[in-house]
Amino acid sequence: MSLSLVSHKTDKLTGHFDVPGDKSISHRSMILSAIAIGRTRVSGLLEGDDVMATKQAMIDCGAQIQKQGDDYIIDGVGMGGLTAPANPLDLGNAGTGVRLLMGLIAGQSLSATFIGDASLSKRPMRRITDPLEEMGADVSTNDGKLPVTVTGLEIPLPVTYAPKVASAQIKSAILLAGLRARGNTIVTEPHISRDHTEAMLRHFGVSVTQEILDDGAHRVTMTGGTDLIAKDILVPRDPSSAAFVMVAALITPNSDVTLPAVGMNPQRTGLITSLIEMGGDITLSNQRLEGGEEVADIRVRSSQLHGIDVPPARAASMIDEYPILSVAASRATGTTMMSGVAELRVKETDRIAVMAAGLKACGVDVTEGDDFMSVTGQDTPITGGATINSQHDHRIGMSFLVLGMVAANPIQVDDVETINTSFPHFAEKMNKIGAQITS
Ligand code: S3P
Repeated sequence: MSLSLVSHKTDKLTGHFDVPGDKSISHRSMILSAIAIGRTRVSGLLEGDDVMATKQAMIDCGAQIQKQGDDYIIDGVGMGGLTAPANPLDLGNAGTGVRLLMGLIAGQSLSATFIGDASLSKRPMRRITDPLEEMGADVSTNDGKLPVTVTGLEIPLPVTYAPKVASAQIKSAILLAGLRARGNTIVTEPHISRDHTEAMLRHFGVSVTQEILDDGAHRVTMTGGTDLIAKDILVPRDPSSAAFVMVAALITPNSDVTLPAVGMNPQRTGLITSLIEMGGDITLSNQRLEGGEEVADIRVRSSQLHGIDVPPARAASMIDEYPILSVAASRATGTTMMSGVAELRVKETDRIAVMAAGLKACGVDVTEGDDFMSVTGQDTPITGGATINSQHDHRIGMSFLVLGMVAANPIQVDDVETINTSFPHFAEKMNKIGAQITS
C-alpha cells in the first residue's frame, strides 16, 4: 500500500535537529570494511533502506556484519574472500549501492546478478558497465538497464578512463574494480565529484592520489594489489539530508534551527554556498575533523532570499540538492537559474521534469530545458493545494513536504516510502521542530 503525507503551513521551526548519517559514506563503509583484513567498527551509520540493501548484499557475498549497540561490527573477509551470492542482489532504490557493487564484483572471480525497484530498473547502467568491460569483466544487461549480471576477474586489467560526466558512482565503481589490478587504475573526471571513496581507501591503507589539472579536471590514481587493513569509521551526518531542514528553516518565518556535526566535505557543500549567496542567514561553527571528515554545526535562521545564477561548475558539489534548492528559489525574489544539470534527468526520477511539473502544480513560475531549470520566486504565499506523486524519489518527496510549510493550502505527497532510503523518520523529526506533516 502506498503511503501519503500532507504538509501544512507552518508558523515557525525552532530547536536542534540531528540529521542522519551520510548515505554515501555509509555505503562505502559497508563495502570496504567487508573486504578489509580485520574488524571494523562503524559508528553513525545511516540505517536507511539504501544502506541496509548494500549491507545485505555484502552479507549475501559472505561478509560478516553485526549490530552492537548503535554501531556495526564488520569482520572483513579480505580482498579475495567474498563468495558468489546464491540469489540476485536486490539493491532496491539504491543507485550508489548497485553501481559500487558492480565495480566490486568486476574485480573478484565471482558472478552476481543485480536487480532493483521500479525506479532503479529505469536508470542507465552502461556508464558503469562499459569501463568494467574494459577492465575484463563479462557483463550482460537488459538493454543497458537492470537486471545486470557481472562476472569479474581475480586480476582485472588496470584502466585509464575518462568518464564524460563527473560522477562519484562511475569513479568509485572503477576504483573498486581496480583494487586487485596490477598497476595503476586512473580515472580523470571533468570536475571533481564527491571523493569519499578515495578518502576511505586511503583510510584503509590503499595508495590513492588526487590532482586537479589545469583545465579543472580531477585525476585519481590508485595503485592496485594492496590489502585493505580494517580501521574504525565514524560516519558524519549527511549534508544532503541537512539540506531539507536548512531550506525549511530559511523559508519558514520566525525560524532558528541548529544542526550539529554535519559533514563539510568541500565536494558536498555547494548548496550551502548557494544559499548564502542567496542571502541565507547560515552560520557554521565548531568546525573540526571527526573520523577524518570535516564537520561543523550549522545554524539557520529565516531569511529573505534572492535569486542567483548557480554556476554549472558547482553542480557536482550539490547534485542531490537541486530539488530542494528549487523550493528555496520559489520563495526568493527574482530568478534562480540552475544550469549544467542534465545529470538530474537520470537520478531516481527525471528530477528536472518532476520538480518543474510539481512546482507548477503548486503555482510556482518554472522554466525547464534539457540541462537547466529556472525558478522565479514570489513573496506572496505559494498557492499549494496540489497532490504530488514522488515517483519513488525520496528527494522529490521531501522537497514538496518542505514547500507545503510555506504554501497557503496543504500539499499532499504520495508514495513517500522511499524517504526511508536516506532520511528515516523525516516527518516525525520535522514535526518535533514545529512542522505540521500529517498522514
Ligand atoms: C553518490 C553520487 C552522486 C549522488 C548520489 C550518491 C555517491 O551521484 O547523486 O546520490 O555516493 O557516490 P553521481 O556523482 O554519480 O552523479
